[in-house]
Amino acid sequence: MTHLTSSKASALSGHVKVPGDKSISHRALIMGTLAIGQSRISGLLEGEDVMNTAHALAAMGADISQDKKGDWLVYGVGVGGLCQAENPLEMGNSGTGARLIMGLVSTTPHKTTFTGDRSLSSRPMGRVTDPLEKFGAEFHSPDSQGGMTLPITVTGIIDPLPIEYEVPVPSAQVKSAILLAALNTPGKTTVIEKTPTRDHTERMFEHLGVEITTEDLGHGPHNKRTAITVTGHPELTARDMIIPTDPSSAAFATVAALITEGSDITLENVGINPSRTGIFTTLKEMGADISFQNPRLECGEPVADIRVRYSALKGVSVPPSRAPSMIDEYPILCIAASFAQGQTVMSGLEELRVKESDRIAVMVKGLKACGVSVIEQEDGMTLTGQATITGGAQIKTHLDHRIAMAFLTLGMATDHPIGVDDGAVIETSFPGFCDLMNSLGANITGET
Ligand code: S3P
Repeated sequence: MTHLTSSKASALSGHVKVPGDKSISHRALIMGTLAIGQSRISGLLEGEDVMNTAHALAAMGADISQDKKGDWLVYGVGVGGLCQAENPLEMGNSGTGARLIMGLVSTTPHKTTFTGDRSLSSRPMGRVTDPLEKFGAEFHSPDSQGGMTLPITVTGIIDPLPIEYEVPVPSAQVKSAILLAALNTPGKTTVIEKTPTRDHTERMFEHLGVEITTEDLGHGPHNKRTAITVTGHPELTARDMIIPTDPSSAAFATVAALITEGSDITLENVGINPSRTGIFTTLKEMGADISFQNPRLECGEPVADIRVRYSALKGVSVPPSRAPSMIDEYPILCIAASFAQGQTVMSGLEELRVKESDRIAVMVKGLKACGVSVIEQEDGMTLTGQATITGGAQIKTHLDHRIAMAFLTLGMATDHPIGVDDGAVIETSFPGFCDLMNSLGANITGET
């Protein structure tokens, strides 16, 4: 384990590019595998989660390599062309990799076993196996006590039936697993979402020529229902893909600049898909000086350069309906809220309890240890900001990359340095985090 310490930073400045988007990177590899011919992927996130997806796809017949320029080349096998993996697929820490690939294999005539690390093996999989059973696939989870958890063996179905399924929790992973299973299923499969979640799968399907429609089913008092329908057995056209940088990773540098006096930084080529930008909307409501510059479209995804300057922040109440568009950003929002004047209220966040760690409990414990005033609720927390924060705590990361990065960001502005027990987990989504933050003016050091 690498212990990392973050001490007070000077004003941050510079232009940097955070790594590629994790969600889009998984999908690019998966869809490259389903296309016939060569797909060239630029800007792929080379984090552990995405590399586990690449290994899993290679184990099922995809030819995946990296050229001298650093682009990734995928020679796909076509929809229905996957072969059976000889060994269990080790998905490490990645819920996205595990759930999406489970969708993919559930409509093949193969048996596939999925394993993961301690964090992933404690996360709920019933949300994805329930709809996939409706296609006809079968799931066996020998270690689970009650709910489905990894390791899981999937017995895929050779002649799946199309389904219509309303996803009970807002989850892009569940939606995408169903859409991927639908590709090797005859006829039309429909997924209904009560609240929109990230739509990278739908955009990439469109980019590669899959027949997909999205129908607005009207607004309820607290939601916006949408039906997404895919026609099975398409032929995917192999196309080049350029991955934007990850707004979820950009959020750490953004908040670091907002809380460090005198900062002025620019983050280049960041994905600004509206289904992901809730954090920027919220920070702007808090008074953050953030501007999207040079907005453009790349491979069906909107991107921009983001300029961020140090700002005096005020507390806000974050609407629960915004949660899906910033679900991974609550840990770093807590850090901004710690320095905001007044109260920040975050609610409707039951999903945070089943992420890489229980992010409500772990954040509240760590924030309290650093001297932040915070009250835990079942579905969120209420935090009262302060002009100065003591810090000085040692934080347990619980195999959660975003917990590690959130507290290292906090340490940049606290009176005393903050340590995290396991900096290696950051490799999951943001390789080079410490070097990038230090190049901006942070003071993060490590020892193994
Ligand atoms: C993701 C969806 C979200 C998010 C995760 C990535 C995706 O999970 O938290 O980091 O790529 O589809 P849920 O779908 O479980 O909300």
